[in-house]
Amino acid sequence: MDDIDLTDLDRFARGFPHDVFDVLRRDAPVWFHPPTPRTPGGEGFWVLSRYADVVVAASDPETFSSETGGERDGGGTLLEDLPSGFAAGVLLNMMDDPRHARFRRLLTPSVAPRTLRLIEEDLRARARTIVADAVHKADCDFLTDLAAELPLQAVAQLLGVPQEDRHRLLSWANVTLDYDDRELGQTTDRTRQAAAEMFAYGTDLLTRKRAEPADDLLSLAAHAEIDGAPLTDLEQQMLFNLLIAAGSETTRNSIALGMLALLEHGAWPTLQVDRSHLDTAVEEMLRWASSTPYNRRTATRDTTIAGQAVKAGDKVTLWWASANRDERAFPDPHRFDITRRPNPHLAFGRGGHFCLGGALARIEMRVVFEALLDGVATVDLTAPVEFTRSNKHTGVRHMPVHLAPTP
Ligand code: HEM
Repeated sequence: MDDIDLTDLDRFARGFPHDVFDVLRRDAPVWFHPPTPRTPGGEGFWVLSRYADVVVAASDPETFSSETGGERDGGGTLLEDLPSGFAAGVLLNMMDDPRHARFRRLLTPSVAPRTLRLIEEDLRARARTIVADAVHKADCDFLTDLAAELPLQAVAQLLGVPQEDRHRLLSWANVTLDYDDRELGQTTDRTRQAAAEMFAYGTDLLTRKRAEPADDLLSLAAHAEIDGAPLTDLEQQMLFNLLIAAGSETTRNSIALGMLALLEHGAWPTLQVDRSHLDTAVEEMLRWASSTPYNRRTATRDTTIAGQAVKAGDKVTLWWASANRDERAFPDPHRFDITRRPNPHLAFGRGGHFCLGGALARIEMRVVFEALLDGVATVDLTAPVEFTRSNKHTGVRHMPVHLAPTP
């Protein structure tokens, strides 16, 4: 256990370190990670790696807050404390009930299955064009040319961002989410500049939505009220930032890591022959990729988890990616099985903060893989995959491939 440092991002530079979590689940399922020179705030934190413990904590938001706890000034769902009143308590995903539940209720109709059925055909057509363009290039980057495009187009559509601006947003989001040139909790000139540009863009867009509301989620947020008062400007702004990041980064990583798993485990030909496995394959890709590896909570009171005493104010991290490989919940968990059923994975979390865009992400994945199966005979990696150096997003930065079209 001595040499485990989950704040050393180099540990994550070649993908999620499942070998480390196999050991934790077996020997120390509720483990207090001691502070290391890299640990944000110089503070240790609890690491929950087993499925059952993660579910218990995620299902008890009164004890395990997404906002803050104990004597802390800040909090949130990252390892590093984010300031209260700026991120913690303002971002939907870093807010506790009752405001969180009311805020969320405003947004759910925009991403409900009934609404999504209306845009599914549009997403399918977009996916076909994206795949056709990539096939035309033949040698391309599966991440940027294929996996990133549909999630980005979809979130732009959902929010009411002009499609021509979507790549600017993506590059800002990439810079703020990347840890290529920094460590946890640090900012650089690049990240500060990207965050400022994104903020200015969001402010301007929200001003326009207030003046000329349209049928999109940002217009809805700009005009919505909770208890007779509008959402604060900061809440609206942070919602914009959250949805751009949450809506694009995670889904593209699940598509890219999903494709990689299909190739590495010989499942692509199986799916080509029998598409009836597509729905279970999407679930297995979500479990396998677990593109959001963890979220943090803060204990609001002294409590115990699986017999371990946890104090009010302690940071508690819930490792969805490890729970998704827990041998107590999934038979043969390190086997990639596109027919796996049941597959109660936690890739979208659990409880009141369950992913708001889960149904949208599932549709995006389904239509992208349908279009790939229609248009692509073989996918061959032409250079090593470049993974994201982050413990907050498991994903890919570049995945060079050669695509051969279907005859
Ligand atoms: C494969 C793709 C995705 C994955 C793996 C994923 C994962 C997650 C996870 C694990 C959570 C729970 C966070 C927590 O409990 O602290 C979450 C929440 C959330 N996700 Fe996703 N997500 C995906 C796609 C999306 C998309 C497409 C959108 C929006 C368009 C989205 C928007 C959100 C929002 C707004 C929340 C916060 C919900 C709340 O706090 O009530 N996500 N997501």
